[in-house]
Parts: sequence; C-alpha cells; structure tokens
Amino acid sequence: MITLTVNGKATQIDADPGTPLLWVIRDHLQLTGTKYGCGMSLCGACTVHLDGKAIRSCVTPVSAASGRQVTTIEGLAESLLGKKVQAAWQDVDVPQCGYCQSGQIMAAAALLQAHPHPSDAQITAAMEGNLCRCGTYNRIRDAIHKAARGGAK
Ligand code: FES
Ligand code: FES
Repeated sequence: MITLTVNGKATQIDADPGTPLLWVIRDHLQLTGTKYGCGMSLCGACTVHLDGKAIRSCVTPVSAASGRQVTTIEGLAESLLGKKVQAAWQDVDVPQCGYCQSGQIMAAAALLQAHPHPSDAQITAAMEGNLCRCGTYNRIRDAIHKAARGGAK
C-alpha cells in the first residue's frame, strides 16, 4: 500500500511502486481530467503538481509521490489560483479540441504560483514542453497574461 495525498485527501493505493502516477490518478482514483498523450515525457498532457511543482505523471512512479501533495486539474479547480486561470482561459477562449488543455493549465498555474507576473520569456520557458496539436499557443500566452493581470496567485 502506498499513501498519497491527492487534492488534499489522504488515500491508500494498492499498486506496484513503479506504476506511473498517471495510471493511479486515472484508473485507481478515476480522476480523468489528467490526460495520456505520449507516455514518454514529451508532450505535457499528463502534467500534475507534486508539492506545487509541475511534473509529468506519465514518467513519475507512484512511489515518488508517497507522502507528498499531488494536485490534479480537479483539485486545482477548487483553488483561487485555479479559478483565476480557468476564468482567463474562458475569457480568451483558449481550447480547440481541448485534449492538451488540462496539462497546459497545470503548467500555467505552477508558473503563476512561482512568478505571479511572468515575462514572455518566463512563459516560453515554462510552457515549451506542453505541446498543442491545435496550435493554441498564442491564446495560452494571452490567457496567462490575463490571469496575471487578474492577480492570479
Ligand atoms: S503523456 Fe506524459 S508527457 Fe506526454
Ligand atoms: S487544444 Fe487540441 S491539442 Fe491543444
């Protein structure tokens, strides 16, 4: 058994310690907002927060999250920061197909947590590993600036 805290709730998971955190989140906990894209740390679709930092859950063994705070898109949505980012995303109408967007929002939220008013260079550095096949990059950048202007923290 592995003890995890996911979205503020302590939970016990019966899984092999090497199981990717992504599968524990999706299959054991039925939190399906976090997406599977590449499984190789190449796309960012599976981004969640571990102790507030954006990580790739597809290549993070569940054992690495033991005793730490995991936040998924479902948990972020309950926070003030999450609500501000979500509102900015809606105002700018960012998503196209939507598949990459929970990962994009998790990466953006981690950036805004660390840098409440990020520069374009900081946005590029934080977001360049999150791919969007629909090419929503400019709207993502606009939405991050908008969330920052709205005092996202
Ligand atoms: S699914 Fe994890 S980085 Fe692509
Ligand atoms: S909105 Fe379609 S992949 Fe990003």
